[in-house]
Amino acid sequence: MKKLATATTMIFMASLTFISCTKEGPAGIPGKDGEDGINGQDGTAGCIECHDNSQALFAKTIQWEKSIHATGGNFERNTGDCATCHTSQGFLGYHVTGTYDPSAPGAAISNPNPPNCYTCHKVHDSYTPADWELTKTGQVAMYNTTQTPDFGAGSQCASCHQGRPVNPFPTVGGGDITITNTRYGVHHGPQANVVKGTGLFEPGTGYNNHPHANIENTCVTCHMAEAFGTQAGGHTMYLGYDYYGSTVLNTAGCVGCHPNVEEYVVKTEELQAEVELMLLDLKAMLDEIGAMNPGSDNSVAGTYSPEVAGAVLNYKALTEDRSLGVHNPSYVKRVLQNTMEAIQQ
Ligand code: HEC
Ligand code: HEC
Ligand code: HEC
Ligand code: HEC
Ligand code: HEC
Ligand code: HEC
Repeated sequence: MKKLATATTMIFMASLTFISCTKEGPAGIPGKDGEDGINGQDGTAGCIECHDNSQALFAKTIQWEKSIHATGGNFERNTGDCATCHTSQGFLGYHVTGTYDPSAPGAAISNPNPPNCYTCHKVHDSYTPADWELTKTGQVAMYNTTQTPDFGAGSQCASCHQGRPVNPFPTVGGGDITITNTRYGVHHGPQANVVKGTGLFEPGTGYNNHPHANIENTCVTCHMAEAFGTQAGGHTMYLGYDYYGSTVLNTAGCVGCHPNVEEYVVKTEELQAEVELMLLDLKAMLDEIGAMNPGSDNSVAGTYSPEVAGAVLNYKALTEDRSLGVHNPSYVKRVLQNTMEAIQQ
């Protein structure tokens, strides 16, 4: 900066000398005494803390590119409340800036993007590394429950990975519920409800959360642990990867608590098999009652007791959760047991 200033001054002085030789003009206004300015901070100092040659940004980017967030394609669901979970702009507009009202007539996001760096991080807000901060932190006001759990860094995930509103929500001993379509239930991603044991239909008693409900940063600890290539962990967010033809659980996030992790891989398989069987039993009961279609996960329109409607809701939620119990082992097993007891004929 200083060098440039000096060079400019010299050229300027030279031209003045040139002018004064040829023609005498009127005297100028006396100049103010100059002061040598302090050099400003380099404008790119913040940028290069992220845009450096460490390859860190590249690693996260190739992981994300393989995630369902990038490849799933359902960000085409860009209208109403769908856009709050399926598009980046809808998420930020609804959960962060309050500029998107999903209930406004014709609400839609144009040029929608899938969940990406800008959805979860404050990228290019302050142009400093502080921009890695997450866009959604703290308590999450969840649908279908008055509870507002805090998932730590996982609050980012829980805002989208939770059940959609069900109205009216079945209550034990409450009024009958009319199911009007095959898609009755809490939608595809109710993982946050299962992790914290809230927002499901709870007949009977004995509900206790498993220690997994209170893992620090919840989702992030298990799903975003040390990456295995671009197949699992990190920003892929997957837990399973293919290793020479067989599917292996990425245990990088488990070892901190389960140092004897091979034993817990076996326990995980046993738990998942047990929960899968319970889900099959529950499904068979609902098929027999006629509330679900044999051979699919579709519900059958009709008016049902709250216990039967709640059982349909729980069956779908625990199927869509897709951890087969791992998210909250003791709670999930209790929900399934009590639900089956409640609809036993
Ligand atoms: C917090 C870390 C961070 C800082 C600081 C930062 N960037 Fe970025 N920048 C990113 C990320 C993340 C992306 C998106 C990468 C992607 O799309 O894969 C990005 C993308 C870009 C792009 C590609 C075009 C685009 O917008 O997607 C340019 C150009 C860019 N940044 C310039 C800058 C400049 C100039 C500065 C400083 C004034 C800066 N960045 C500061 C993280 C940062
Ligand atoms: C903006 C909403 C949003 C946020 C935030 C979000 N997700 Fe997702 N996630 C989705 C959607 C939507 C899909 C499905 C994408 C599709 O089908 O197009 C998905 C898919 C996934 C999948 C793949 C599921 C499969 O089909 O195999 C995993 C795993 C996942 N998310 C984990 C996470 C974790 C962990 C976090 C937090 C770090 C998170 N998500 C944050 C909306 C979100
Ligand atoms: C509260 C957040 C939320 C809302 C609202 C929401 N979704 Fe989703 N949706 C998700 C998540 C999360 C997933 C991915 C779940 C997973 O893969 O475990 C998903 C998955 C899907 C899928 C993929 C299903 C599959 O089996 O691959 C479709 C299709 C979909 N949503 C459509 C919609 C439509 C249409 C709407 C609006 C009518 C909507 N969603 C509203 C969160 C939401
Ligand atoms: C679905 C949400 C989500 C998306 C999408 C996402 N991230 Fe992240 N990212 C996270 C979470 C959660 C963490 C862990 C933060 C924590 O524990 O506080 C993280 C951590 C990071 C870190 C480490 C930050 C630090 O403080 O050192 C970097 C770098 C990063 N992400 C880059 C990216 C880039 C680049 C993209 C886009 C290619 C991206 N992320 C997309 C959720 C996301
Ligand atoms: C105790 C560790 C743990 C925690 C905490 C956790 N998960 Fe999972 N999650 C799992 C395991 C294990 C599976 C099953 C993976 C398998 O069988 O391939 C799973 C499955 C899933 C799936 C289905 C897709 C897939 O990759 O199999 C999604 C989506 C998901 N979890 C999202 C979340 C979200 C969102 C949170 C936080 C609200 C969360 N998880 C918290 C361990 C965890
Ligand atoms: C923050 C600590 C923590 C983390 C991280 C964690 N667990 Fe656990 N897990 C526990 C505790 C505590 C128990 C209950 C005591 C026990 O069974 O060891 C448990 C129990 C289990 C059980 C037995 C379930 C049952 O029937 O009671 C399985 C299976 C399991 N964990 C799998 C996993 C897997 C897989 C991961 C990683 C994806 C994981 N855990 C991550 C703390 C953790």
